[in-house]
Amino acid sequence: MSILITGAAGFIGSHLSEEFINKGMKVIGVDNYQLGRKKNIEKIIDHKNFHFINSDILDDNFIKLVNKKTENIDEIWHFAASSDIQSGTQNYLLDMNNTFLTTAAVCNLAEQLNILKIYFASSGAVYGNKRGRLSENNLCEPISFYGTFKLSSENFLRSNFERFLTKVVIFRFSNIIGSHATHGVIYDFIKKLKNDSDTLEVLGDGTQQKPYLHVNELIDSMMFINSKIGEGFNIFNIGPNDDGAKVKEIANIVIEEMSLNPKISFGSENRGWVGDIPKIQFDTNKLIKLGWEPSFSSLEAVRIATKEIIAENKSLQVD
Ligand SMILES: NC(=O)c1ccc[n+]([C@@H]2O[C@H](COP(=O)([O-])OP(=O)(O)OC[C@H]3O[C@@H](n4cnc5c(N)ncnc54)[C@H](O)[C@@H]3O)[C@@H](O)[C@H]2O)c1
Repeated sequence: MSILITGAAGFIGSHLSEEFINKGMKVIGVDNYQLGRKKNIEKIIDHKNFHFINSDILDDNFIKLVNKKTENIDEIWHFAASSDIQSGTQNYLLDMNNTFLTTAAVCNLAEQLNILKIYFASSGAVYGNKRGRLSENNLCEPISFYGTFKLSSENFLRSNFERFLTKVVIFRFSNIIGSHATHGVIYDFIKKLKNDSDTLEVLGDGTQQKPYLHVNELIDSMMFINSKIGEGFNIFNIGPNDDGAKVKEIANIVIEEMSLNPKISFGSENRGWVGDIPKIQFDTNKLIKLGWEPSFSSLEAVRIATKEIIAENKSLQVD
């Protein structure tokens, strides 16, 4: 079985690629290294079942490059996107191109090569700034370009499900954390403290509270969903069902794990940037009913991920 993974050198895509290779599948990984890292795929780059295409999905030659690598592709796991939500608020083209148009290009590729199954990495950002636990049935009113183009991608996939796709699974992730991270709150705090161990500047007042899931558990949940769900169009929230972790709690864990004692300088607003959602709570009952729950709480996941990111970024410097 052959699987095309977009965003394969990214944080989650690299873990997913490893998982499928360990299961004996052939993986065609695509990444333009815009946000991904060679280091993330160093364990698998020479594996006989891993074929890497260093290309932009929006490149005119993309379909030709993929076609050259393999005879048949059974599934696409579309994980490429502009994951830097904050930069996307300054320049809508980042998300329009890398979050939405990549999805359109992937659907086009699927149609041309007769690939009928697509799995899509969406996000809780599609819901927007809402109170209470958000289930898959909640109205989606995104407040960032990232959330807007994730929702557009979901809808584009739905339209193509009506046309030719037989299986579409939309995964709406909470905050995913762990090794291979190239961005996110834990990574940012570690980077800042490596640069200046006396002060930690926190974006927002530290009360922002979100659910966090360790990347190993995310991979496990997606494999579980795939094993249980047949053809059709399905959406799943994936994350812990708890109240999440506050940014100030994450700051304290990072400081503790780095054995430092900096002054923490908080911002004045309850959000980190325009488009940041101060409080998110996921309702994951659909996934729980299917039979899957994470074993770590948000705070436990934060502690584990912090240790991993510190260990693998010993020489991390500020860009
Ligand atoms: N990490 C999270 O907390 C989280 C939460 C919700 C959703 N997601 C989604 O999960 C997916 C993976 O996220 P991640 O955290 O691993 O991010 P990431 O940035 O590490 O991975 C995305 C990869 O896509 C690649 N990419 C972007 N545009 C491309 C293009 N035009 N052509 C080829 N490659 C391109 C980047 O270089 C990067 O390696 C993304 O779709 C993201 O939006 C992530």
